[in-house]
Amino acid sequence: MASINDWRPLAAPDTVVRLDEKFAAIDEQWTPKIIAQINDLHLKAVKIQGEFVWHVHDETDEFFLVRSGSMTIQMKGLPDAKLGPNDAFVVPMGVEHRPVAKDECEVLLLEPAGLINTGDAPSGDLTAANDDWI
Ligand code: NI
Repeated sequence: MASINDWRPLAAPDTVVRLDEKFAAIDEQWTPKIIAQINDLHLKAVKIQGEFVWHVHDETDEFFLVRSGSMTIQMKGLPDAKLGPNDAFVVPMGVEHRPVAKDECEVLLLEPAGLINTGDAPSGDLTAANDDWI
């Protein structure tokens, strides 16, 4: 039987991605983990709680999709984006932003491979590895 991989290289991973398993394997907050690569984009899973650092990505938009919980994306010059389960938002390139979540929130991110989570902010405790697969 023909498979999708008869006509194109393997995407990564070449198995079904089960979000329940991926999120269960994440035991730290603010550490995005890559769960799939789509061309030059990484799909990442992250648990967040508290306030992140204000930062900007000058080269790219950043996609957020809340899986569980709720979060607010604060932005300079734009209204807050308040997201609950199954809500998505794209932070435009060049807009300074800060994700905030009162309680733990599970989020999917879609962004260019290699993106630094803290953007232009000085590297610190919240700066995560950008090549960490689970
Ligand atoms: Ni960001």
